Amino acid sequence: MRAYDLIQKKRDGAALSAGEIAWLVDGFVLGSVPDYQMAAFLMAVYFRGMTFEETAALTDAMVRSGETLDLGSLAGCAVDKHSSGGVGDNTSLVLVPLVASAGVPVPKLSGRGLGHTGGTLDKLEAIPGFNTALSEAAFVEQVERIGCAIAGQSAAMVPADAQLYALRDVTATVDSVPLIASSIMSKKLAAGASAILLDVKCGRGAFMKTASDARVLAEAMVAIGREAGRRTAAVISAMDYPLGRAVGNALEVAEAIATLRGEGPGDLEALCLVLGGWMLVLGGRAVSPEEGSEELLRRLRSGDALRKFEALVSAQGGDARVVGDPGRLPSAPLRLPVPAPAAGVVAGIDAEAVGLAAMQLGAGRTRKGEVVDPAVGVVIERPAGAAVKVGESLATIHARSEEAGLAAAREVAAAFEIAESAPAEAPVIRGVIRG
Ligand code: URA
Repeated sequence: MRAYDLIQKKRDGAALSAGEIAWLVDGFVLGSVPDYQMAAFLMAVYFRGMTFEETAALTDAMVRSGETLDLGSLAGCAVDKHSSGGVGDNTSLVLVPLVASAGVPVPKLSGRGLGHTGGTLDKLEAIPGFNTALSEAAFVEQVERIGCAIAGQSAAMVPADAQLYALRDVTATVDSVPLIASSIMSKKLAAGASAILLDVKCGRGAFMKTASDARVLAEAMVAIGREAGRRTAAVISAMDYPLGRAVGNALEVAEAIATLRGEGPGDLEALCLVLGGWMLVLGGRAVSPEEGSEELLRRLRSGDALRKFEALVSAQGGDARVVGDPGRLPSAPLRLPVPAPAAGVVAGIDAEAVGLAAMQLGAGRTRKGEVVDPAVGVVIERPAGAAVKVGESLATIHARSEEAGLAAAREVAAAFEIAESAPAEAPVIRGVIRG
């Protein structure tokens, strides 16, 4: 086989066989297929797409490129969860302990921030001492003991995704449905859970800008999960505005703690209850998502979910005193208001622009491997639909320096759209795909 012929075949719109795709992926990981040929292949996929059989074969080849996690020793149906990436999306911090508190084991392997979107590992590491680098044995043992764990994937798992993603990131081939579906699902299948809930974001702050593109991605991922014998469902949720109020690592941890106390922003709590309701259905603890959501609301009100979060933080070496006293989390030295330039109603907040402003403050990475600042970020003071007077603060910037803070304040001000009347309220949940 020659990489040249496979690139040409895809370029001309033909479908590759599973054997051809496996040959290409194996060769890329071993180094016999160079970056420039793989980049050309990815661009051909970007324009030509892939059949379902090709996407499933690509996912399978990526899973087989490395080690997989064996969760066979866990009692009960373990449910994993994945978000396709958003701004202020701290649902995992709430959902993992919440769902575990209802008796469904949640072994969660998470990632770091990507572009303007935040990452669960960066957020958790804002808690002093929190260790996200668990060995496989420690990860499984913790899920057996307390019902949940959140850790980073080891470099030995799905190395093909790490290499392909780095190439896609610099060749404008990230936003392709077969490439995103295989990237996400290869990691979820390798992570070993029997069931998977996908939160597929759509809107200005997401990789998929429209609900119809998000649906195509969700259907592809659910079909891959079903083919691999995992119970899989996808919820399509809106990401036009930042989720909740906080964007930034420690700020989002504090917001997650408030939500686990029953005092969080309404949109974040509502989304967590829907996603969690589906996780309980997949885990066999509820017959409908509504029944699951009701059970989870009881767990929030009783304090069980908050206690589970405290147990999770302690088990992973973090300072669990932050749960009772979020003031112990790192905080930025400067707080700057973002004054409203006009009176009216907040008609829109560009989530991507707010995510980029937080990234520039240091909450995310502008270069690979950069250390993130846990303390900085943005807190939205006037969410969509709120009335504002001239000069009232739309948001608060948490910054390390005045220069960085003023630059972020300008970007965040430009992200707000102020109109005479409130926009029609759009639902957060845009659809559900069941496997
Ligand atoms: N998240 C991933 O893990 N992979 C993608 O390709 C996009 C988002």
